Amino acid sequence: MAENLIVFGGSKEEEYRCLLPQLKNLIEGEPDMTANLANVAAALAETFHHLWIGFYLVKPAVKAPRYGAVPTEELVLGPFQGPIACTRIGKGRGVCGTAWAEARTQVVPDVDQFPGHIACNSRSQSEIVVPLLTAEGDVWGVLDIDSEFFQTFDAVDVRYLEELCELLSQSLIKSCCCNEEE
Ligand code: SME
Repeated sequence: MAENLIVFGGSKEEEYRCLLPQLKNLIEGEPDMTANLANVAAALAETFHHLWIGFYLVKPAVKAPRYGAVPTEELVLGPFQGPIACTRIGKGRGVCGTAWAEARTQVVPDVDQFPGHIACNSRSQSEIVVPLLTAEGDVWGVLDIDSEFFQTFDAVDVRYLEELCELLSQSLIKSCCCNEEE
């Protein structure tokens, strides 16, 4: 893909179908994950104009646990498009932490109905969070999208965003394997 996305207006499904092959080309040609996550967030923002689109990545927690020696991890804010957001989210906390804990996509039609939802922005009304999975099924991050409208996300978003996250995970696996061979 060059510098420009080509996405013709149509149904949401048509827009995803147009966008995904372009993102696949973009991701496959670039081994740097930060660059890929940043471009994917920008491409989704440019296409769908949601309130907030971005990634949280599983990283070592800043504070050591008070009891026990096991080091903990948390979600840390990654590349995104939209208003500033919370920087760290614990496992099982909010929609993102739940997607991490359950390793499952969360579709939230009304964020006020989701127990423990973390309101980074009061304009957010609905949300989808898709986990990024390693080959072993461990979560290495999540894609989070917030909408200013209720019930924005449906099965079409789930299908294509999960496909997109799979592409990102495959590129991570490839770049890890390439580094090992070096
Ligand atoms: N609402 C999310 C927090 C992240 S922001 O929406 C960017 C949650 O409940 O996990």
